[in-house]
Amino acid sequence: MNRPIAVSASILAANLGNLERDIKRCEEAGVDRLHIDCMDGHFVPQLTIGPMIIEAVRRFTKLYLEAHLMIEHPGEYIENYAEAGADCIQLQLECYGTRRASCRRWDQWPKEIDEVDVPTLRADLKKIRKLGKKAFVVVNPKTALCEEVLNDCDGVLIMSVNPGFSGQKFMPEVLPKIERLKTIFKGDIAIDGGINAQSAPLTVTAGAHVLISGSYLFSSPNFVDTVRHLKSLA
Ligand code: DX5
Ligand code: ZN
Repeated sequence: MNRPIAVSASILAANLGNLERDIKRCEEAGVDRLHIDCMDGHFVPQLTIGPMIIEAVRRFTKLYLEAHLMIEHPGEYIENYAEAGADCIQLQLECYGTRRASCRRWDQWPKEIDEVDVPTLRADLKKIRKLGKKAFVVVNPKTALCEEVLNDCDGVLIMSVNPGFSGQKFMPEVLPKIERLKTIFKGDIAIDGGINAQSAPLTVTAGAHVLISGSYLFSSPNFVDTVRHLKSLA
């Protein structure tokens, strides 16, 4: 039997001027988690949200908050995100190892690597867990899984778009990574990027059960129906 689906709302696609209202709508619709895309303008082109906004959101919701860190040197900010109230801290693999030649300059994207600096990554994952938070690794579409650290992770987030923006098109070529994870990993298997009525079933069949949705959910006329539909895919 499939695991139940958890729906995580990516607030990048919410109305940021009315965030409290949009988060209440998520709560009422049965959303399980809030996905918070923290971007630094270096790891990815955009600048978005940092710990201060997480702290503000924490004050008006009890929902599980996941901080997706699309920032350089994420290990240096783990305490900040934990103190701000994130329940889960998600580290991009591409921040741990030598970058491919095509993305070594700060303004070249997407970031990709071939070999992971496992000891440093493992130390950061342990740091997150020691603070009582869930530790995830995030894998860009063209980066391979790092199976050596799975025991140190509560979840793995597979990116199905190149990180940086909401509203991009789902990349089906990442599905084999989910299928592989399903056979070797008992933690959360999350998918992020371009999730909608067409792509979500493909990811669930492959083995994903945490569905992160930004533009599809926030542009839907009826949050309740959209969340119900995503959960019914289990
Ligand atoms: C992309 C972000 C995603 C994005 C999802 O860099 O990590 O979380 O906001 O948005 P949609 O669902 O619109 O692709
Ligand atoms: Zn994200």
